Amino acid sequence: MPEPPFDAFRYAHEHRAEVVWMSQNTNHLVPPEIVTSAVEEALREHRYEGYPFAAGLPELHELVRADLGLGDESRLQVSAGGTEALYMLTRALLGPGDEVIASDPSYLIIHKFVELGGARTQNLDIYAPPYRLTPDRVQAAIGPRTKMILLIDPLNPLGSGYPESEVRAIAEIAHDKKLLLLNDVTYRDFADHPTLARKYAPEQTLTVWSVSKNCGLAGLRLGGLAGPAELVQNVARYNTNDLGVNILAQVAAVAALRSKPRWIAKVRETTRANQAAIRSVVERVDGATLPVFPSQANMFAIDLTGTSIAPEVLQKELLLGHGVFLRAGNYLSPKFGARFIRASFSNPPRDIERFAAAFPAAVERLRPRAPAARAAT
Ligand SMILES: Cc1ncc(COP(=O)(O)O)c(C=O)c1O
Repeated sequence: MPEPPFDAFRYAHEHRAEVVWMSQNTNHLVPPEIVTSAVEEALREHRYEGYPFAAGLPELHELVRADLGLGDESRLQVSAGGTEALYMLTRALLGPGDEVIASDPSYLIIHKFVELGGARTQNLDIYAPPYRLTPDRVQAAIGPRTKMILLIDPLNPLGSGYPESEVRAIAEIAHDKKLLLLNDVTYRDFADHPTLARKYAPEQTLTVWSVSKNCGLAGLRLGGLAGPAELVQNVARYNTNDLGVNILAQVAAVAALRSKPRWIAKVRETTRANQAAIRSVVERVDGATLPVFPSQANMFAIDLTGTSIAPEVLQKELLLGHGVFLRAGNYLSPKFGARFIRASFSNPPRDIERFAAAFPAAVERLRPRAPAARAAT
């Protein structure tokens, strides 16, 4: 029988105590006692025995509203991760033949959701400076079937962030052309000067938020959607969590969001120091480069074109040989995925030290050797 293909996630989860997790943009820097003490209290009170208040804890709503600066005109929907909000809104608002202006690379799960209802994404190539959409290109891409613009800011996987002037220009295009603007702000707290698109197109914008990355709660699966009441009500028809989302996740998110002003600056500082440390490693490896630096998120792409090493091969070597888990680019880009591997770095510095030892060693082991010069005769 042929051997089953190598399953990196299965291996990494089985060895999770030893693995440095730099593959999913998860955040391992939030002081853990903030979350654990809140969840332990909820466990002691057996809060898991009953259904939660279906709309979500009022304190969670207040904290997210304050975090995103939402006014009374905005409605908030809580969901099981930003992912569920993305699914709901693409199902509710897009139909056969509709087009969504998006990018390649991108967070392709959203593209997959777009396609489920017969719509399609129009992927603008952004694997070249400035490594993000530009207002001009968005404007030029609009056609008769365009229904939505996907603005992921900062962008997974490249780490590019949008300056306020560009968010504004893209939002104004959405407003003028009466298009929906899907503003995914999952990585916003890692950016220097994040701008919410709804500031400039409040009636057009659906903001997808998450506590997976900023608050380090990816495993608890909590996020949601904010936007004009009528749009969010329309999206909520597709809510499958009619009985509310996980109560322990909500309790944890309340504790994390309430305390965020105390620890987020330190998380950002460590994340920035880590990416600088990664850069100095990558700079020493022939043929590896960083398209975007500094990243405005907690990840970036490492381009491997000059090494002639396939990202999946390097991913496997790093994981099996060194216990360091990065993610090959093919999961994030149909066109450019064979060129890069993605590293996330909201990790303790000791993880980055493991990367620093592993990356050059793995590349050197895999690097194709030039044929030895033929001996002179
Ligand atoms: C751009 C983007 N949006 C949404 C998500 C989903 O986040 P969640 O864990 O809240 O479902 C991710 C996860 O990596 C992401 O990169």
